[in-house]
Amino acid sequence: MKGIILAGGTGSRLYPITLAVSKQLLPVGDKPMIYYPLSVLMLADIRDILVITTPGHLAQFQELLGDGSRLGLNISYATQSQPRGIAEAFIIGADHIGDDQVALVLGDNIFHGNSFSDVLLRESAGLSGCTLFGYPVNDPQRYGVGETDADGKLLSIEEKPARPRSNRAITGLYLYDNDAVDIAKNLRPSARGELEITDMNLAYLQRGRARLVDLGRGFAWLDTGTPEALLQAGHYVRTLEERQGVRIACIEEVALRMGFIGAEQCRRLGAEIGNSDYGRYVMTIADELVGA
Ligand code: DAU
Repeated sequence: MKGIILAGGTGSRLYPITLAVSKQLLPVGDKPMIYYPLSVLMLADIRDILVITTPGHLAQFQELLGDGSRLGLNISYATQSQPRGIAEAFIIGADHIGDDQVALVLGDNIFHGNSFSDVLLRESAGLSGCTLFGYPVNDPQRYGVGETDADGKLLSIEEKPARPRSNRAITGLYLYDNDAVDIAKNLRPSARGELEITDMNLAYLQRGRARLVDLGRGFAWLDTGTPEALLQAGHYVRTLEERQGVRIACIEEVALRMGFIGAEQCRRLGAEIGNSDYGRYVMTIADELVGA
């Protein structure tokens, strides 16, 4: 399965913070926002990853993540000149996807929960059509919303409905079979001129090939869209990290635990930024694994 992180857009709700800096590079806790969606793809055992961003922000992402080889990944880049919709990612990324399946994650989505890797591995192994992930929220009208019957079968999907049929938001992580590229190419722009991800999901639903997996209330799916939400996400991450002494979305640790890199490389990566608590944590993780 190939991975795509969509990290474009204007971030206009965060102006003036995002006038010069990409939203997906802003700090959440002690690390850049994109570390969170990147670690989601890594936990799904995806190593071929395309980062799509704006032409103006491309160099910043390249400086941060390079070609990914230091993490045992293969990261490539593409640009989206205008925010013409989330589903355009499959057109921009058509060559990258080739004849494979694809996982798309929005660069501003933060997921955290127990056994998330198991859920991701299970869902990608059994993928047929598309798999969406639902999460209960108290303001569903701000998101794509999925409605299911008593057996959990997906009945409808609506984008930002004024009167939501359920409280289940559809999160910004989507797994698709290879039809995604053709479906995206045949989508028509919505009234606001975008290739909507919800229209893409509806196309799968109409074919009876869309599945909604509930992430449940023990899980965290956090918003970063406003200054308030960004602060809250940072507090959430730091509160858990300090309480437990572990780090959320530490990409070096994930690479080590997934077997993408060895302990020596992990230690080296930590040492390079060893003046920070984050860097020292990465070194400690590497040492613990060698000692274990
Ligand atoms: O976060 C989950 C939600 O994401 C879903 O529940 C919705 O169904 C989906 O439409 C989307 O809603 P948003 O209101 O968050 O979409 P937004 O336009 O803000 O785009 C989400 C991210 O994707 C944002 O960080 C910018 C990036 N993006 C967006 C568009 C439209 C791009 O990089 N390119 C684009 O063309």
